[in-house]
Amino acid sequence: MPRTIDETRSRVHTWEETIRADSRMYARLARHVAVRDDVLDLIRVVPPGQLEMNMLLAAVQYLLIADPEQALADWYPSLGGNRQDDPLEDAFDAFVTDNREAIHELITTKRVQTNEVARCVFLLPAYNLVQEMAGRPLALAEIGTSAGLNQNVDRYGYTYRATGETKSLAEDATVQLETNCGDEIPRHARRVPDIAWRTGIDIHPIDVANEDEARWLQALVWPDQVERHARLAAAIEVARVHPPIVKEGDAFEAASRIVAEAPSDNALVIQHSFVLNQFSKEDRERFYHMLDDLAGARTIYRVGAEWLTKLRSTVLSVSRHGADRETVELGGVHHHGAWIRLAG
Ligand SMILES: C[S@@+](CC[C@H](N)C(=O)[O-])C[C@H]1O[C@@H](n2cnc3c(N)ncnc32)[C@H](O)[C@@H]1O
Repeated sequence: MPRTIDETRSRVHTWEETIRADSRMYARLARHVAVRDDVLDLIRVVPPGQLEMNMLLAAVQYLLIADPEQALADWYPSLGGNRQDDPLEDAFDAFVTDNREAIHELITTKRVQTNEVARCVFLLPAYNLVQEMAGRPLALAEIGTSAGLNQNVDRYGYTYRATGETKSLAEDATVQLETNCGDEIPRHARRVPDIAWRTGIDIHPIDVANEDEARWLQALVWPDQVERHARLAAAIEVARVHPPIVKEGDAFEAASRIVAEAPSDNALVIQHSFVLNQFSKEDRERFYHMLDDLAGARTIYRVGAEWLTKLRSTVLSVSRHGADRETVELGGVHHHGAWIRLAG
């Protein structure tokens, strides 16, 4: 059952309060949508589990990317626009009215699903730690890989900044990622790990070789986050040259296959970032125990970056699974890699 217009209005208000500090432009559009019953009526059909404003704004940006000559694009920094003056709301209304059918189709068939390449700044030190522990190059399997862009972690460039020191890696790479490390650059952030084999699974795989899917991924990045747009576009280009493996599957059913497939002379790393926070606590435990059991045949390392409680930032951890499972918390990290605070 679609929500009522008033229920939808209340959800739009809540969304506006949550994102106000992050995007002036989207907050402004949300306040506007909240007083437009025709737009609320359009978006109240967004399926359960998806947020109406995220879907509406992604649908609008998706259509604008395809047709950047539209007047509304002048307000979108992601499309080179730099207008901030009043008629934004008028241009938005005109665009939504003209594209009502296309927006309806998008918001009822697509989903909000991101892939944040900047997370590689904290995955890299975790992989280096595993490589040091195992003494071998890695076989990397990403659970919840989305479009698989983070499987190309060793093909990106990095700048780690700390008080009084900067360390750059692969300065000529087309994707450059940067982070602030606080007082010290972690010991494991000083080299690019050796990845000999890689794979990924997702319950909703995204194929960036498909123009439509790549455009939807871009459309989900907020227009005023110009750097994220550029980073994603560059990572999609890398993925077109080095296509990640993105198989359809569920974490639970895929794990044993991954363990069987990964070359035995590499250290198997199962990685998940912002995936297990979508599981119940019981399912997370079930997943860890399943890896303990599977580790009978070979050592399984697990790198996790998850935001599991509201009280702490994202925690980066490395586990060695088995009957004597060991987990090391490396430290806290910003969800988009803006900063990392790792021990050592
Ligand atoms: C927030 S995205 C994170 C994507 C990527 N790991 C990153 O950090 O950019 C979470 C991803 O996990 C996938 N996912 C959720 N539950 C899953 C499951 N049980 N098995 C496999 N993938 C799952 C979703 O489809 C989605 O692509």
